[in-house]
Amino acid sequence: MNSKPIYVTQPYLPPLEEFTPYLEQIWENKILTNGGQFHQQLEKSLCEYLGVEHVALFSNGTLALITALQALRITGEVITTPYSFVATAHSLLWNGNKPVFVDIEPETLNLDPTKIESAITPQTTAIMPVHCYGNPCDVDAIQKIADNYNLKVIYDAAHAFGVQCHCGSVLNHGDLSVLSFHATKVFNTFEGGAIICPDAKTKQRIDHLKNFGFVDETTVVAPGINGKMSEINAAFGLLQLKHMPYIIERRALIDATYRDGLKGVQGIRCLPQAGQIVANHSYFPILVDDDYPLSRDTLYQKLKDHGVNGRRYFYPLISDFSMYRGMPSSSKGNLPVATDAATRVLCLPIYPNLQDAEVEKIINLICMMGVQK
Ligand SMILES: Cc1ncc(COP(=O)(O)O)c(C=O)c1O
Repeated sequence: MNSKPIYVTQPYLPPLEEFTPYLEQIWENKILTNGGQFHQQLEKSLCEYLGVEHVALFSNGTLALITALQALRITGEVITTPYSFVATAHSLLWNGNKPVFVDIEPETLNLDPTKIESAITPQTTAIMPVHCYGNPCDVDAIQKIADNYNLKVIYDAAHAFGVQCHCGSVLNHGDLSVLSFHATKVFNTFEGGAIICPDAKTKQRIDHLKNFGFVDETTVVAPGINGKMSEINAAFGLLQLKHMPYIIERRALIDATYRDGLKGVQGIRCLPQAGQIVANHSYFPILVDDDYPLSRDTLYQKLKDHGVNGRRYFYPLISDFSMYRGMPSSSKGNLPVATDAATRVLCLPIYPNLQDAEVEKIINLICMMGVQK
């Protein structure tokens, strides 16, 4: 087949001429970073768009995760999921924390709250769950455990931009939530991220930490990092925000088309949406069960041969990478649901510019291969 390859995602880029006025203003002002006007405007606009009180912008999601842990002075052990992008657990190692992996729920592939308590030790200080694919975690159950054991909760909400659960923005749960605005995300600033803070004091502390610990010209209060978002990224974010309704509408349509087209295919399960009142359709994971004629890896390869590049998010599990695999909580016996999901999941392409004909082609390929040996 000689049509152009289709990838799992493609960043949304608004028309270039819409970005030019922002660039002209930066060239005029000559303020490139350190909390310039676009940075301030984006923090304000995101508070309104997301329905949250305080946003601290970052240069990427990983530095935001690392700083969130620093801001809450997390030490010792942190309970987290093996079924995520590797940055979730890496942020713990960068802070000298020990990740303790707990298994996931089969329906949502999020951290299983019923398995958290047995992993708590006197060294546990926090829980770091992930709203995987933008599906909200069981936030109430997790908070209850955190309250009972006096633990902090930091959500890796890298996938959960704009998601609302039963009580409004899912980002308002836990002590802090961390977003990623990487090019592959629903809302991108090329590279970028943010911490959602519950109060002005916490945001101020985080703002100091992301700027080397500087409070004023001569005062440094902590060994901070350089995690600042530049004006060019912030300006792009402001423009991108204007296009969010279209971005979400297109993603929702593609999501619905996949669900409809794949519903009769034996052995293909679409992950159900889990309690979103507003979803962001950031990913489209399918699970390849034993009654589909091909294994997940064979389907992945055959789709690739037809120019359709899905991704096996999340495979391998974080707990299988060399820096984690020796930990007792990384054993397969401790993580049966995550281990199984990692062998079955395939994320199909989903992005605003994916054409209807391309979605149909992907559905048809999966249907056709479903009746072939
Ligand atoms: C779940 C999760 N956590 C953290 C990150 C890291 O974010 P960033 O790439 O912005 O550093 C990503 C994505 O890249 C992610 O998917």
